[in-house]
Amino acid sequence: MTSSEDTCTAQTIKNGDTVILFQGFDSMTFAKMCVRKITDNRFGSFSHDDMIGQVFGTRVYSRAPRPSRGRKRKPGGSLSRSSRGWLSVLHPTPELWTLSLSHRTQILYHTDISLILMYLELKPGSLVVESGTGSGSLSTAIARTIAPFGHLFTFEFNLERVKSARKDFEMNKINDLITVTHRNVCKDGFPDIPSLDSLKTSTQSDAFGDVEMRSGTTTTTPSLESSPVEVEEPNKSGVIDVKLEEKSSVRPSSEPSKSSSEPPSEPLPEPSSEPSSEPSSEPSLEPLSEPSSSEPPKSSSEPLSSSSSAPRVGTVDGIFLDLPNPWLVLPSVFRNLKSTGNLCSFSP
Ligand SMILES: C[S@@+](CC[C@H](N)C(=O)[O-])C[C@H]1O[C@@H](n2cnc3c(N)ncnc32)[C@H](O)[C@@H]1O
Repeated sequence: MTSSEDTCTAQTIKNGDTVILFQGFDSMTFAKMCVRKITDNRFGSFSHDDMIGQVFGTRVYSRAPRPSRGRKRKPGGSLSRSSRGWLSVLHPTPELWTLSLSHRTQILYHTDISLILMYLELKPGSLVVESGTGSGSLSTAIARTIAPFGHLFTFEFNLERVKSARKDFEMNKINDLITVTHRNVCKDGFPDIPSLDSLKTSTQSDAFGDVEMRSGTTTTTPSLESSPVEVEEPNKSGVIDVKLEEKSSVRPSSEPSKSSSEPPSEPLPEPSSEPSSEPSSEPSLEPLSEPSSSEPPKSSSEPLSSSSSAPRVGTVDGIFLDLPNPWLVLPSVFRNLKSTGNLCSFSP
């Protein structure tokens, strides 16, 4: 295949592709292309058959008149283009995905995301850790930045969000770059993150001991367990520079700012069954409070190999925290960060 054919194939919408259905900057959704499927919305009925085989960016027209207009068509009269709704079918970039994803939590937008990626100094091939995953808005942007050789380990203690994030990453074909793990990192800390080299030689399940859910309980395989560590003061832990960025973000009016004291206009969906380790309230809406205890987070089990008692050399280039009480995670952060690595924490 020639390079021009390559480019042509990459730009053509295929059955099974995830696309952005763009009707305007304040109105976009996504769809997985499926032969003979129709997507209905307030702009009309859009056949996937009209999209598959077209190039990304194509404008497609509704097969039926816009439902909201209510104007009667003359019997036998043909549908003019002006009486039909339209949309543009776009390639799902992280920026467009952030604006069209299903919100399971409050999310980060690209003004904040660009700052975070810059502070973490991420680049292709970086090894990154994030918690919590939330709706995966930041994770998707990280995946694009570290592709094609890097890896993101993202941790989330809400089981429904873990499952939805895995589904979304698979749909966007970035699941090879991201491992989503169900874990309460404030309680159990981050596990020891393997190096990128060791990832190449193992399958995801044996390298990272992906968490299995059985009847609402969480079992972790040995490689995910953390070793007990002493909490050190930051300067003794090798922190050499701290930057504080204060800013008020402009967010779409449909979503309240994280710092707002008003309740969200629509209640966030609550998962039906939660892991027992998760607090009952929505953590991301709580103001940061003082640490309830100066104790380090307790490891859920003893280290499993004698080598874990040796001083650990961190493997991770960047760690990002977007959760309440981020200081509880610091021991496992310092254990995992490379000496040149960066930690960034979002504080509402
Ligand atoms: C504000 S959301 C993160 C949004 C995400 N950055 C995005 O852009 O989509 C915070 C997430 O952290 C999760 N979380 C809070 N405390 C946690 C903990 N101790 N361990 C793991 N996840 C936690 C919450 O369930 C929530 O989904």
